[in-house]
Amino acid sequence: MGVDVRAELGAFDPELPIERAWTPPSSWYTAPELFELERRAVFGRTWHPVARLADLAQPGAYSAGCLFGEPYVVLRDQTGELRAFHNTCRHKGREVVQGTGRADELVCGYHAWTYGLDGRLSSAPRMAGIEAFERGQMSLRPLAVEAFGPWAFLNLDVDAARGAPLAAGCPELASRLEETSWASLTYIESTTWDIGCNWKVYVDNYLDGGYHIPHMHPSLDAQLDMSTYRTEVFERSSIQTSDPAPEPDAGVGFDARARIGTGAIYAWLWPNFMLNRYGPCLDSNYVVPLGPDHCRVVYDFFFEGTGEDAQRFAAESIAQSAVTQQEDIAICESVQRGLRSQGYDRGRYAPRVEQGEHHFHRLLAAALRAGLG
Ligand code: FES
Ligand SMILES: [Fe+2]
Repeated sequence: MGVDVRAELGAFDPELPIERAWTPPSSWYTAPELFELERRAVFGRTWHPVARLADLAQPGAYSAGCLFGEPYVVLRDQTGELRAFHNTCRHKGREVVQGTGRADELVCGYHAWTYGLDGRLSSAPRMAGIEAFERGQMSLRPLAVEAFGPWAFLNLDVDAARGAPLAAGCPELASRLEETSWASLTYIESTTWDIGCNWKVYVDNYLDGGYHIPHMHPSLDAQLDMSTYRTEVFERSSIQTSDPAPEPDAGVGFDARARIGTGAIYAWLWPNFMLNRYGPCLDSNYVVPLGPDHCRVVYDFFFEGTGEDAQRFAAESIAQSAVTQQEDIAICESVQRGLRSQGYDRGRYAPRVEQGEHHFHRLLAAALRAGLG
């Protein structure tokens, strides 16, 4: 049985202050209709990390993939500029290039139509006799791309990207991360987790202002001074920070000060990207929505230093992060089962703690309403 999308959107009132607000109804987390609307109204017009800049350093380096069903290619052109295109040949629509590589021009393998790194069609063999063929009109169609930290981000909607650029849309976050030299860290590895929950359950859990940390993450709790945990909310981002625990906890068997350093920054970027910067570590959590109750979280890990000690530390830190992630997965999958229950529809916010989550729901409500027209 389908849901009435308009009625379900109306069930969340973004105007109410957090003290009086109710969370969105559970249909937002379970109904295929809402998921479809999100694809278009949220993910089709926001920024997504698609490649690491280190892999696009050389002129001609490219990386192709598929984002919400749209084949794309992002590349570095000869002048050093980042560019992105719909990766569909203007002849019959084949994907022009696949995977990653380096090339002076993009040659479609099907019939060898060839495009410059600026997307212009430079050659189309055996087209003698064709009429009304404007080569200049047959360029690859551009997508929006922006470098942010160590990643290239893509936006499938060029107009939306122009209206809401990435770094310029979160100046507080950009400058705070800039101070930590985040773009110059060494990439170590990525891990991927498939989770049986709606993508927003994962984001909500991240944005609860540390509410669940003492209850669900004993090891992380021992590394942080939770009395210093706080949330700041900005236009399209929010930042949670915490100082490290004053004393290393013998029970954890891990030196929190070495890992957390002078403090942790947990940053969220609308809608589904999170960055954790602490001590010598940076890791990102990119939540890929795969269905109403299924998502995938991709972690990229970066660290300072390259020596043997640094490598050992990185391995220990990644293991710690996996412990926290497994705890979060258990929470998120349990919440998803609860959201499907007849016994639950909407909840409330802890006003002094869950501001980040409320802010996220307000942005989402605005985007979904705009998408519905
Ligand atoms: S589809 Fe690309 S050359 Fe024919
Ligand atoms: Fe957590």
